[in-house]
Amino acid sequence: MSKLFDGYDLAGLPLPNRVVMAPMTRSRALDTVADEQTALYYRQRASAGLIITEGSQISVEGRGYLFTPGIHTPEQVAGWKRVTDAVHQQGGRIFIQIWHVGRISHVTLQRSGDSPVSSVNLPAAAATAFAYDSAGNPNKVPVSPPRALATDEIRRVIRDFVQAAQNAMAAGFDGVELHGANGYIFEQFLNDGLNSRNDAYGGTLENRMRFLLETVDAVSEAIGASKTAIRISPFGRLHDMKPYADEDDTWLTVAEQLSARSLAYVHLSDQLTLGQTAIDREFLKRFRAAYTGTLILAGGFQKAEAEQALESGIVDLIGFGRPYISNPDLVERLRDNAPLSPVDRSTMYGGDSRGYTDYPRLETSSSAG
Ligand SMILES: Cc1cc2nc3c(=O)[nH]c(=O)nc-3n(C[C@H](O)[C@H](O)[C@H](O)COP(=O)(O)O)c2cc1C
Repeated sequence: MSKLFDGYDLAGLPLPNRVVMAPMTRSRALDTVADEQTALYYRQRASAGLIITEGSQISVEGRGYLFTPGIHTPEQVAGWKRVTDAVHQQGGRIFIQIWHVGRISHVTLQRSGDSPVSSVNLPAAAATAFAYDSAGNPNKVPVSPPRALATDEIRRVIRDFVQAAQNAMAAGFDGVELHGANGYIFEQFLNDGLNSRNDAYGGTLENRMRFLLETVDAVSEAIGASKTAIRISPFGRLHDMKPYADEDDTWLTVAEQLSARSLAYVHLSDQLTLGQTAIDREFLKRFRAAYTGTLILAGGFQKAEAEQALESGIVDLIGFGRPYISNPDLVERLRDNAPLSPVDRSTMYGGDSRGYTDYPRLETSSSAG
């Protein structure tokens, strides 16, 4: 019995299947505004149970890569409105991932060449931003040293998240996913190996979780908990996130805290296909016990593994990343056991419609061939 194609009630939003399009940066918004191509790209994928957009920066300060679409100016909101209209017209559902990169940024992306901000002033080792190089060309460049946010500035960053969430609702999104994964700003506060602050946002576990939980609460209050979600990557090592002593306890306490908040969902990003170690399955069981709401897991899934994970009850919905780039009709292909098209890695980030909106649906490819 297939569970992948069963419906699901996502905090009042009915999903026709359990297939989720995972958030993926595609770096095609030259002026940081989602455009007609963006709308077409997401509309083509509207049969997903749920689409989660690429990360969208909440502020200039929160940007770490050129050509990612933001959600903090009226033009950006109008751009995203085209996207949500297109997806809704096609019968789909769409959350936006809202993003602040913290220290994974570069002075050429910041206002007046300011330093990026983080929990502390340590740069991420061997990490790159996509910014302007010394010749002024878009390029991968080593991240700039950050400065630690002052205590009262943290409230301002939380307000930026709230404003972005409100902008997202004005743009017609069904909800908002906070990007708490992959070594960006929330992990820079959570990680005990990095966050050596001695104010209310550093030190004890309670303090390290404070920024994340205050943001979740402020966004929930502004747009409703049932429209608020978060993505996290327990034990993720991307962007120089180092292991630390009470890591299990940190993630399980985060799980309990999020469980108490009745969010739309929690989304676990397993970095196993991003060159990292997979989340331990025993830990996943403990996470599931600590967090009783809707759980999404993404990373490395094919149909059989997805069915198995749903069948075991360990998660409720399955996120697919790269397969969604090259298979706009992924739901139909999985349902029909049709072959999947491979992704062209050279067009994953940046460029034009090639490798973006020109992957055919199966009918089109077979009728053309
Ligand atoms: C091109 C590309 C861009 C990505 N951008 C994001 C992003 O903006 N936000 C995020 O949370 N994860 C991002 N990811 C991670 C994916 O959401 C997903 O977790 C990862 O690709 C593993 O799933 P997969 O094995 O099905 O591809 C990106 C992955 C790829 C391949």
